[in-house]
Amino acid sequence: MPADPLDAAKRLAAEKAAEIVRPGMRLGLGTGSTAKHFVDCVGEKVKGGMPLICVPTSEATRAQAAALNIPLTSLDETPELDATVDGTDEFDPQLRLIKGGGGALLREKIVASASKRLIVITDRTKQNTRLGRFPLPIEVVPFGLEATRRKIESAAARVGCHGALTLRRVKAGPVFVTDNGNYILDAAFGVIPDPEGLALALAVLPGVVEHGLFLGLASAIVIADADGVEIKGDLR
Ligand code: A5P
Repeated sequence: MPADPLDAAKRLAAEKAAEIVRPGMRLGLGTGSTAKHFVDCVGEKVKGGMPLICVPTSEATRAQAAALNIPLTSLDETPELDATVDGTDEFDPQLRLIKGGGGALLREKIVASASKRLIVITDRTKQNTRLGRFPLPIEVVPFGLEATRRKIESAAARVGCHGALTLRRVKAGPVFVTDNGNYILDAAFGVIPDPEGLALALAVLPGVVEHGLFLGLASAIVIADADGVEIKGDLR
């Protein structure tokens, strides 16, 4: 178990989620420091001889999984998955999520949507009664960036969301580019009064590829802290 308590909680949540993995499963592999632990757990199962086939949600996860000899496929070859296990940046009591802190939200949402179940693994710090503490990542195409930014501002304002939209950069240097060749605007809205309304308002804007609100997708959240593991929703 990792020495750092936060990392230990992430590992614990990952191990709990790994209990659902059965031979022959088609699995989506999430992205981020929590999902990384789950990929390690899957690697251990594969090493032990368990047949599995997995779809990674990012190039980083693909590289990790390949190094662990986890058999990989694509959603073109395997369009339906049994489960995806992924981390989150924030979650609320209705199992709604904000994701995309690592920039993989588009592939994460596509893979989660192709899965019968999305199991979220997290430490307790990501819990919130109302979404919005974590700036909402919005993936946009580079073309027309400023025009798209203004459209996002007005659309968000109509559903009660106001706040700075910051173009994500790599350590204050070059613009961060997603695995899909797009940019990310991080929207510091604070509390989002109507996540469903905001999701719809963003989805119809040309130039917006995807946003980090994951609504109605998570079937279970595995939350770990120093006291152990709590499960919200249905892990089976
Ligand atoms: C990647 O784009 C994200 O959605 C991550 O899944 C999320 O940011 C959680 O990451 P950590 O587990 O590293 O906090």
